[in-house]
Amino acid sequence: MTKVAIIGAGPCGLSTLRSFEQAEKKGEKIPEIVCFDKQEDWGGLWNYSWRTGSDQYGDPVPNSMYRYLWSNGPKECLEFADYSFDEHFGKPIPSFPPREVLYDYILGRIKKGNSKNKVKFSTTVTNVVYNNNNFEVTYRDKKNATSSTDIFDYVVVANGHFSVPFIPEYPGMKAFPGRIMHSHDFRDAEEFRDKNVVVLGSSYSAEDVALQCHKYGAKSVTIAYRHNPMGFNWPKGMKEVYHLDRLEGNKAIFKDGHVQEADAIILCTGYLHHFPFLSEDLKLKTGNRLYPPKLYKGVVWQNNHKLMYLGMQDQFHTFNMFDCQAWFARDVIMGKIKVPDSSKIEKDINKWVSMEEKLESADQMIDFQTEYTKELHTLSDYPKIDFELIRKTFKEWEHHKVENIMTYRNKSFSSPVTGSIGPKHHTAWEVAMDDSLKTFLDQPKK
Ligand SMILES: Cc1cc2nc3c(=O)[nH]c(=O)nc-3n(C[C@H](O)[C@H](O)[C@H](O)COP(=O)(O)OP(=O)(O)OC[C@H]3O[C@@H](n4cnc5c(N)ncnc54)[C@H](O)[C@@H]3O)c2cc1C
Ligand SMILES: NC(=O)c1ccc[n+]([C@@H]2O[C@H](COP(=O)([O-])OP(=O)(O)OC[C@H]3O[C@@H](n4cnc5c(N)ncnc54)[C@H](OP(=O)(O)O)[C@@H]3O)[C@@H](O)[C@H]2O)c1
Repeated sequence: MTKVAIIGAGPCGLSTLRSFEQAEKKGEKIPEIVCFDKQEDWGGLWNYSWRTGSDQYGDPVPNSMYRYLWSNGPKECLEFADYSFDEHFGKPIPSFPPREVLYDYILGRIKKGNSKNKVKFSTTVTNVVYNNNNFEVTYRDKKNATSSTDIFDYVVVANGHFSVPFIPEYPGMKAFPGRIMHSHDFRDAEEFRDKNVVVLGSSYSAEDVALQCHKYGAKSVTIAYRHNPMGFNWPKGMKEVYHLDRLEGNKAIFKDGHVQEADAIILCTGYLHHFPFLSEDLKLKTGNRLYPPKLYKGVVWQNNHKLMYLGMQDQFHTFNMFDCQAWFARDVIMGKIKVPDSSKIEKDINKWVSMEEKLESADQMIDFQTEYTKELHTLSDYPKIDFELIRKTFKEWEHHKVENIMTYRNKSFSSPVTGSIGPKHHTAWEVAMDDSLKTFLDQPKK
């Protein structure tokens, strides 16, 4: 019987488990599947951990999410085609839920089946090599401190790429008297109440960590961009300046001459695609981009078609794109989709990579990833979902952010699956301090 290893039980690993479960429900004979996750439970980054550094076994903590994290995109853009928000919550809910609500949703459909018994938790994959037409997968059961090696026909790499921080160094850091940390280790904005915070970066973490610090009472928040500013209309107490030059004592000195006293520096400088468990010939080497190289349809490893990577793209689209990738990977594994010859693969990859290299604006990037996901969607039986509505929603969301970065999360959108419209949330994001599922779902009675 064909054996498949899935590395990671985050959203991508769960999409893969779900895709096989759906095929089995239709009466198809599915391969034997073993999913490994180094955490104690499933959900990936959405499974919040207070821990930073290493876990109780000395293994690096993969988690990068923090308390009070709310979805930064409309939930309608990430909705599963086969399991709507309305179905999960029994009613329409607002468009920008906090982490705990999305975590509940991600787990909802998979909990209904029996996929959990396919997952080995607290088990870290430590080595994967391809030998004699098979993969040798070595994994460490952390609780029992044992290592084993099993043979698999296919490997699905779904270990995420927002877990291993990229940490640059700037002059003066060694002598800085305050706290220097990466957004990977950011857990609670309360820590920075009444502090002067400097944030480095100009992408989603910089934007959201800076807003969190402001929302929870930082004295000042200074964001330093390196290439392009985010350029939002920041509220009083926040500003954006050009690139950090150096630190002198507790002073941050920027390349535009600006000087700011700082209690803390938060490096929102992104993450590394990191696969310490893969042999070099199997390893994807890429930065955070919309079309990483050497992946046919963004999924199948060009040099070995029995190796699949899920979710390795920079992400506008998330959960339903992961589903489209998982359904595609499943059908390749089950022989329903034939991978073409190497020249066709090369041509297809080059087409997407060269299109990606010409992208300039956020709207073009949204179009690009929507086209990619739409194409993938046509290749499997993943259920119908309105990608044109998702494209439109992403663009409106981008424009709402430009209008007012403090209020974009108070807007509502309609579902690409059921058509229902997200109701207005009872409390504006700016003043909603309690992010619990209960508070979010309980609309106070008028
Ligand atoms: C701070 C932050 C906020 C985000 N917010 C949003 C948001 O609001 N909306 C959105 O759609 N997306 C958001 N994302 C994007 C996020 O990447 C996806 O939502 C999603 O979590 C990606 O799923 P994944 O399965 O690829 O990876 P992950 O969620 O990272 O899951 C990977 C899993 O692999 C496991 N693993 C890693 N290495 C090994 C190993 N060697 N052996 C065994 N298991 C291993 C990990 O334990 C983990 O459970 C956010 C990302 C970050 C960093
Ligand atoms: N739900 C939420 O609210 C939320 C919150 C946070 C993050 N996220 C998600 O997390 C994921 C990761 O986002 P991310 O922002 O961490 O990573 P990212 O999108 O890869 O951005 C990395 C940033 O680091 C900057 N950078 C890299 N090296 C630098 C250096 N030496 N000095 C200064 N700046 C440097 C880059 O600047 P250049 O452009 O100049 O290279 C870029 O702005 C995204 O999917 C995002 O959606 C979501």
